[in-house]
Amino acid sequence: MAIERTFSIVKPDAVAKNVIGEIYSRFEKAGLQIIASKMIQLDDEKAGGFYAEHAERPFFKDLVGFMTSGPVMVQVLEGEGAVLKNRDLMGATNPKEAEAGTIRADFAESIDANAAHGSDSLESAAREIAYFFSDAELCPRG
Ligand code: TYD
Ligand code: MG
Repeated sequence: MAIERTFSIVKPDAVAKNVIGEIYSRFEKAGLQIIASKMIQLDDEKAGGFYAEHAERPFFKDLVGFMTSGPVMVQVLEGEGAVLKNRDLMGATNPKEAEAGTIRADFAESIDANAAHGSDSLESAAREIAYFFSDAELCPRG
């Protein structure tokens, strides 16, 4: 499988629970390298733009409210099949449906506060990485 890059967020609930390191450790144990990372406080505009595809959904306002409720960690992960690998590590969107041992099963309380984001395709990954990071901020180890 090809080396890919994907975009990941440790959401405000997981930052508040102090499990950033535990989540990063799962990425590393799965063979993904963190090639860029920063903590940021999103505002309505930045969070709303990120989730623009969901702008017409009934949960959009609550989603933006949640994503701006505290700081998040944003990171770029690189490795073999990184997009799908990260989605597998996260588990299902609804933590009640997420497989045991996944990030969402272990750290999330509800579908609206679900601990992590991961790009759903290579195309989304490229767009989402560029939404938060300049090329100069990416530090691949080769
Ligand atoms: P989505 O892209 O469908 O899920 P994922 O994060 O697994 O790619 O939805 C984006 C976020 O919107 C999701 O992580 C949590 C929130 N959301 C809700 O609050 N309620 C819902 O019914 C859905 C589908 C999503
Ligand atoms: Mg999604």
